[in-house]
Amino acid sequence: MAAKAKIGVLGASGYTGAELVRLLLRHPRAEIVLLTADRRAGKLMADVFPQFSPYALPTLTSIEQADWKALGLDLAFCALPHGTTQKVITELMARAPRTKVVDLSADFRLADTQAYARWYGHAHFAPKLQKGAVYGLTEIYRSKVKAARLVANPGCYTTCSELPLIPLLKAKAIDPDEIVIDAKSGMTGAGRTAREEMLFSEVSEGFHAYGVGHHRHMAELDQEFSLAAGREVVVTFTPHLVPMNRGIFSTIYVRGLKASPEQLHAMLLKTYAKEPFVHVLPFGVTPQTRHVRGSNMTFIGVAADRIPGRAIIVSTLDNLTKGASGQAVQNMNVMLGFPEAMGLEQVALFP
Ligand SMILES: NC(=O)c1ccc[n+]([C@@H]2O[C@H](COP(=O)([O-])OP(=O)(O)OC[C@H]3O[C@@H](n4cnc5c(N)ncnc54)[C@H](OP(=O)(O)O)[C@@H]3O)[C@@H](O)[C@H]2O)c1
Repeated sequence: MAAKAKIGVLGASGYTGAELVRLLLRHPRAEIVLLTADRRAGKLMADVFPQFSPYALPTLTSIEQADWKALGLDLAFCALPHGTTQKVITELMARAPRTKVVDLSADFRLADTQAYARWYGHAHFAPKLQKGAVYGLTEIYRSKVKAARLVANPGCYTTCSELPLIPLLKAKAIDPDEIVIDAKSGMTGAGRTAREEMLFSEVSEGFHAYGVGHHRHMAELDQEFSLAAGREVVVTFTPHLVPMNRGIFSTIYVRGLKASPEQLHAMLLKTYAKEPFVHVLPFGVTPQTRHVRGSNMTFIGVAADRIPGRAIIVSTLDNLTKGASGQAVQNMNVMLGFPEAMGLEQVALFP
């Protein structure tokens, strides 16, 4: 039997950490040897998340207690608040030179550390590590991910919009200045920390926009769309919070088409024909969040607008799976030389 890789999950008591543990428990080549928490350090994983009580898992420890050298991790997932990973992995990567890292936070997604400082309100704590970080949108950067020691896992909103738009921008099939992304997220997108505005009574039976005109994922979208278009792109993006647990749903308006909507659809079909986690629906058919919940899939639909030269693209994924921990495991598989879909074959949970 092939040896298992020693895996650590930093931030295992949060939503994306728990999703990592859910996926890794069924992964034939992964052995979880470290789980960390902050306020919940010292607790059993089963006490924090009763769904894990049938499984033998390490006790949650604080990051300060981790002896990186002795642990000898093959790979660490960092599911920590932004700003935290930059500090934590500087020490981890120095003390354990063979440990690879997949960071789920925004800490290493922006190649330009000045842009990071502008959007996140503090100087980057690890600019040298940033230089070696690879943006982990697996379908687009697979060969770079394979060679990387540090992968910056993309955001959930950004993955959902980048997968349909990057191929179209590369093909110069849409006008880069005319993209409008109207996106919605389920509540787990905001993490598990208790906040008044996330109470059931504040969120249920309603729905609202937030970060209007200044959401941080804009920086990541601009970066990746500019790379794809070969020139600067500044995108219109408005996120909304909807009262559901999981899911990102993006309605994307593209204009100034240099190809018909049917041709855009054909381009996406061709680009993703062999991809296990991107599914392009028949022309005119649009997906729903419930079609991807709990799976690592992104579903994409393309429809014509009745106004010539325009099309409407609808893209959806589960923010905790393809939008975070599923894509992180996909990147782990690529980095450690495992089959890319290993441990990620689950079908969406419906209804
Ligand atoms: N939620 C999503 O859909 C999503 C999607 C893509 C990316 N992300 C990114 O993934 C990261 C984790 O998100 P999440 O939603 O899982 O957050 P979360 O539910 O709030 O969990 C945060 C985790 O980090 C630990 N933690 C908090 N402060 C810490 C500190 N100073 N030092 C060490 N550990 C600390 C927490 O421990 P305690 O529980 O003990 O406090 C918990 O385990 C974030 O950077 C987020 O932006 C999230």
